[in-house]
Amino acid sequence: MCGIVGYVGNLNAAPVLIDSLKKLEYRGYDSAGIAVLGKEVEIKVIKTQGRLSALESLVLDQKPQGNIGIGHTRWATHGEPNTENAHPHYNASRTIALVHNGIIENHGDLRQELTSRGYTFLSHTDTEVAVHLLDYYYKSEKDPKKAISMTLSRVKGSYAFGILFADCPNTVFAARKDSPLAVGLGQGENFIASDAPAILKHTHDVIYIDNDEIAEIQKDSVKVYHLNLKETAKEAVHIGWDPEAAEKNGFAHFMLKEIHEQPAAIRNTVFPRITDGNISLDELALSEDAIKNLRKIHIVACGSAYHAGVVGKYVIEKLARIPVEVDLASEFRYREPILEKDSFCIAISQSGETADTLAALREAKRQGLFTVAIVNVIGSTIAREADSVIHTHAGPEISVATTKAYSAQLATLYLVALRLALVRATVTKEDFAKLVKELKSLPEKIEMLLAEQESIKQFANKCKEKKDIFFIGRGIDYAAALEGSLKLKEISYIHSEAYAAGELKHGTISLIEKGTLVVSLATQPTLYEKTVSNTAEVICRGADILALTFGDNPALLQNAAFSVILPETDPIFSASLSVIPLQLFAYHISLAKGLDVDKPRNLAKSVTVE
Ligand code: F6R
Repeated sequence: MCGIVGYVGNLNAAPVLIDSLKKLEYRGYDSAGIAVLGKEVEIKVIKTQGRLSALESLVLDQKPQGNIGIGHTRWATHGEPNTENAHPHYNASRTIALVHNGIIENHGDLRQELTSRGYTFLSHTDTEVAVHLLDYYYKSEKDPKKAISMTLSRVKGSYAFGILFADCPNTVFAARKDSPLAVGLGQGENFIASDAPAILKHTHDVIYIDNDEIAEIQKDSVKVYHLNLKETAKEAVHIGWDPEAAEKNGFAHFMLKEIHEQPAAIRNTVFPRITDGNISLDELALSEDAIKNLRKIHIVACGSAYHAGVVGKYVIEKLARIPVEVDLASEFRYREPILEKDSFCIAISQSGETADTLAALREAKRQGLFTVAIVNVIGSTIAREADSVIHTHAGPEISVATTKAYSAQLATLYLVALRLALVRATVTKEDFAKLVKELKSLPEKIEMLLAEQESIKQFANKCKEKKDIFFIGRGIDYAAALEGSLKLKEISYIHSEAYAAGELKHGTISLIEKGTLVVSLATQPTLYEKTVSNTAEVICRGADILALTFGDNPALLQNAAFSVILPETDPIFSASLSVIPLQLFAYHISLAKGLDVDKPRNLAKSVTVE
């Protein structure tokens, strides 16, 4: 989704803005631009469609001078991705410029109104109405904050704005509703950014702007006001992430680096929460009585986080014997969910900013449920709005396709399941101890799988021309198949579907023909025979098999074109292992096809619109 940056300080703003925008490239974009305020009356705006390298060349040619500016990477929603529609947008006299992340839902009515007042539009975006509204109110009020507040009261939808007024040459203004925005606090310089990695190089201390707040940022001060222009006190949050963690560090792609960081992500998430064989999960913030009386758990999430939730359902139900309902957040919020007393809701999100997940969390809260967020980004909106937060410690995830954050989410759900199971006495102390030990050994086992990369790469190279790839599995393997299939389709653009192995024959099997690749996951010994039979059904229709299983399943292995034998573990944890070869498989197919692994087409890292 769109990325916003802003700078005010003593440095020349343009290179700082470009550098910060580069750190937000992972969010996905199709055009980019900056606005710099220097000594001239007009704000200098440079923007272009395409990659940041194109913007950088324009900036190098035009050399805008000034110590204050805003920048933007645009992920088109309204209006095609061209230069006119790129941000910043500006008023006719170029004395007000703004960048926007979000969607102005009533832009049609506002455009009509402003056109009738004589305003001329240069773009087809929803955003441009905001800059003309600002111009309109600024002309009457002569006060930028008032003009911003009046503009915001007219705008429906979601927004994070960065705004410059030529009349205020020392100030960047910012405002937000339902789109992320942070102010980075430096020494004699301050920043705004949609996401912390953009400014980590300069500062680790940030203030998160909340809904209906306006920030006034100068190089030595940051003031935040409510929409009614009353000043409000804000606390800074320290982000411990190492800026190096947001660099590739010698890996060809962020995705490959992040795949290799999974053992560390799990260690950092799990180990500090296990002391003397016990799980301390104070963040769960539920009394033992409440845990014993639980009737249901609701999990809401999107994409891969949802797939982690599906694994969580199988694991929690098996270990803690509590019914779990997993919902796609975008469905949950509009299906008028019936939420019972004595249940709680887990929202899972890497970014902590996903609009649908946030809305689902709010719905659960509205209905009086206790909410727990499993979130990677500290200080993110979901983390702040949930009643309680269990942070995954995966570090910054830059590649659009999630890998290490997903693995850390799984690890967290195992911790939750084990904690609940112990309190509810649905596992014996001995089994609990064995499972905790096993959980702690997952990082080493992942390392063993990572060492098998070369053979997976060779097989992936042979599969790059495939048109359809199916993933099948039962139980936890079905949940893992969902994630394997998503990983493949999002970065290789090969059509893929994941099916519960037993369901394939109810329709989808008609798509299987000679040479169709079917990835068969069989890691649940109690289900081996069933999955082997379902695999046989596709083999006899011409399918080639990639098998993922443990070593004691010769019936599956003997018929596979390629197989990965997973290191032994308790089957409850198998999803953490089976996902590794599936990530590598997707990565190497994408690479073999010459695609942009880290920034797949049409996708955005942080999906802040519905
Ligand atoms: C897929 C992927 C997405 C995200 C989804 C939710 O690789 O990354 O499917 O999992 O957009 O994002 P978060 O976890 O930030 O809420």
